[in-house]
Amino acid sequence: MSISDQLITQRRAEPAKMREEMRQVLTEKEQQTLGINMGAGSDHPRAWVGPPFIYDLLGAMQFQLLIDLGMRENHKFLDVGCGSLRLGRLAINYLLENRYFGLEPNVDILNRGCEMHFGADIEKSQVIAKKKATFAYNTDFDFSLTGGPVDFVFAQSIASHTGPAMTLKLLKAIADVSHDDTVSMVTYIRCGMPSKSNTEEGWFYPECVTYTDQAFGAFARQAGLHAYRTVWPATNIREDGLVTTQHPTILTKRPWKPRLNQRMTASLFEGIQKIN
Ligand SMILES: C[S@@+](CC[C@H](N)C(=O)[O-])C[C@H]1O[C@@H](n2cnc3c(N)ncnc32)[C@H](O)[C@@H]1O
Repeated sequence: MSISDQLITQRRAEPAKMREEMRQVLTEKEQQTLGINMGAGSDHPRAWVGPPFIYDLLGAMQFQLLIDLGMRENHKFLDVGCGSLRLGRLAINYLLENRYFGLEPNVDILNRGCEMHFGADIEKSQVIAKKKATFAYNTDFDFSLTGGPVDFVFAQSIASHTGPAMTLKLLKAIADVSHDDTVSMVTYIRCGMPSKSNTEEGWFYPECVTYTDQAFGAFARQAGLHAYRTVWPATNIREDGLVTTQHPTILTKRPWKPRLNQRMTASLFEGIQKIN
């Protein structure tokens, strides 16, 4: 199957194979510590946020995408539903002081993640203190912790769990924290058929919901945002399929002008498409 076919059919890489690859290179003790054999959504900082055997890749791919989109160390960045700092462990180190903002209602998972990466919980971590990273813990998409607009936003694997009203609330909150050139990334799981597009309200976890591009594009329009389907860095593509079938979508207040590197990568696959 060609790589563009893989993207079009959204074939997910074989989880059993990926888990086995990790098992082969880790000791028993490491496997336990890293929760490699636990299911997504389990009570472990790596498993809570997704398949624990691709924890490293999912953080790195988010970070890579932000860099591809132009994030520099001086930019302000909001990590929506930052979980156990899968992306945060890279972004906090990269950004200058006072530039990282993380929202996460599960304080316990956030603290255990912080401990795992930085040796102490949020209150006691020297890295968090040095970088003056700021956290808030609400479920209302209240982004007031940022104290004003930010330059980049990532909501990874949030809209794959929200019903329509919550999704719209998320996108409106993103619009409120955006300036004219803010670039936001929201992932969701795309379905082709309108009958599969979720209409049930609530927060679904660890189950996932799916939306058509039309439905998601309409939420973005209601929130006053332009929405563009884009692609992950090529790290997402393996011989046996994709690391993640979550779809990265760019949201901007003004029409987005993709950078040359984005257009080049996207042109190898489905290209960048406006969905509203
Ligand atoms: C699939 S995990 C993704 C975490 C993180 N974005 C990442 O990529 O590692 C979803 C996260 O959203 C958090 N969450 C649940 N309800 C939320 C809400 N209303 N607002 C923000 N985050 C929420 C969960 O606790 C969980 O950590």
